Amino acid sequence: MPGEAAPRAWWQEAVVYQIYPRSFRDSDGDGIGDLDGITGKLDHIAALGADVIWLCPVYPSPNVDNGYDVADYRGIAPEFGTMADFERLLREMDRRGLRLIMDLVFNHSSDQHPWFRSARASKDSPWRDYYIWRGSAGSGPPNDWRAVFGGGAWTWNEPTGDWYFHIFAPEQPDLNWENPALRRELWDIMRFWAGKGVAGFRLDVASFFSKKPFEAPQTGGIFPFYANGPRVHDYLREMRREVLDPLGLVTVGEAPGVTADEAPLYVDPARGELDMIFHFDHAGIDRTPEDFWTPAPWRLAGLKDVLTRWDRALAGRGWNSLYLGNHDLPRLLSRFGDTGVHRAAAAKLFATLLLTLRGTPYIYQGDEIGMINTPFPSVADLRDVVAANGWQSARAAGRAEADFLAEHLLVARDHARTPMQWDASPHGGFTDGAPWIMANPDFAVTNVAAATADPDSVLHHYRRLIALRKATPALVHGDYVPIEAGHPDIFAYVRLLDDVLLLVVLNVSAAAVPIGDLGRDGVPLIGSHDGHGPVMRPFEARVLRMAEEPGEYASPACSMGEVDPAYMGFSD
Ligand code: NOJ
Repeated sequence: MPGEAAPRAWWQEAVVYQIYPRSFRDSDGDGIGDLDGITGKLDHIAALGADVIWLCPVYPSPNVDNGYDVADYRGIAPEFGTMADFERLLREMDRRGLRLIMDLVFNHSSDQHPWFRSARASKDSPWRDYYIWRGSAGSGPPNDWRAVFGGGAWTWNEPTGDWYFHIFAPEQPDLNWENPALRRELWDIMRFWAGKGVAGFRLDVASFFSKKPFEAPQTGGIFPFYANGPRVHDYLREMRREVLDPLGLVTVGEAPGVTADEAPLYVDPARGELDMIFHFDHAGIDRTPEDFWTPAPWRLAGLKDVLTRWDRALAGRGWNSLYLGNHDLPRLLSRFGDTGVHRAAAAKLFATLLLTLRGTPYIYQGDEIGMINTPFPSVADLRDVVAANGWQSARAAGRAEADFLAEHLLVARDHARTPMQWDASPHGGFTDGAPWIMANPDFAVTNVAAATADPDSVLHHYRRLIALRKATPALVHGDYVPIEAGHPDIFAYVRLLDDVLLLVVLNVSAAAVPIGDLGRDGVPLIGSHDGHGPVMRPFEARVLRMAEEPGEYASPACSMGEVDPAYMGFSD
């Protein structure tokens, strides 16, 4: 029934911590983070109060896209360790009550995967139909579709005289999900990892598994175009039937191009597909709708609208996932907050937002200490394939390096991939060797050791917020009702469950903002600053328990104001 709450599941009450293994902690001095490095730092995650780790890919890979180009779906990359190290990690996690979500990259493999090496060598290969091949149209590729990382989506394969399809880099050929034998292989891979004891999966670009007819003209943004192909829901239902339900696994699908209106198609429990999806509406809020790599201005009104729209779309029809940072985005404080005098306040504010909305929160490594963007001095200091491709075309177009760099650093994924800052020793205590990517020089002041020692730190604020969330069912399951929706600087909402009414007020600005008597009679539960007078200090966050009759807020008290569609990201 619409509006009826689905039964509660453990993962709805969980807090997830995302690890980018290459950048988390290097245990053997080769400059690359590894599994033993993670095992050695599990106490940090347990002390935070997280329940689940989402581990970005650790499979053998030529690393064109840092592991999102998998050469062996059942292996562990040597630079990350061995299967025995992986099993030890799982055991040590188990001892601390932590569960693991593996990242599965099933839209494409690496071009070095044995399936593709065989498929590209001969049309008679048994794996030929695991990939997508077409002949030329005229003298060129089968169509003019574009790839997410730049250039066209088809690459010529000389030995077989035809083209293969790739939504990302040419080294990431798309798998042909139309082929039932391929799908059976994928279900087996999932069973393999489930057999090791993982709790579930994060599915890379799950919205892209089914391709549209190749005759379709590619219009608008790339993400909406590749999303929601005709059979994607059949495939996901088959996955649930074959693997997820029988093995009791939780699954979150990355879903670029999926709108809030379409979201229930993926996560409504009655449909039997995924448990959660990651939408891109706020990921794309500071990008142009046409191109994810071109920066654009954002406004708080747009962010409020996106988060409210997604809560409403899923209320009673699925479960939301919440994130403000990940390995594909610049640091959240540099995007939405403050990196100067209000940095700590802004970090606490966004922590409060993440941990007081309805849905499962995903914390990205380093955000819990308020890491910010890195002043990469040159293109040579960047490592991402997106940066390399972007610079190649910018240079071909005659642009100066400084000019390209200034623009690219507004969207660069490498900001999220600099070493985790553990202490003030060289490279932030990430490695005893030379790190694969430069550390943010800021590690000298911003690091886990310093944050642990300071009871007023961002880290302790995260810990307190997570503890509050765990002790407060209204913060997990309560209805979300925005208030003061049209305010340009204040983001405020209530969370409501039974007779518990909580008020969250966030001043998302560097100015002091009067709020009248909003929340005056509330009891503060947590805040970024002491006291709660009528003026919110810059980037102040407050969570209050209110005594009012919940009935007052039971229907949306204020509707969201109209927002310029230019700020809506990719959903429109
Ligand atoms: C989404 C992943 O999060 C990103 O890092 C990767 O580059 C693409 N998918 C392609 O796998």
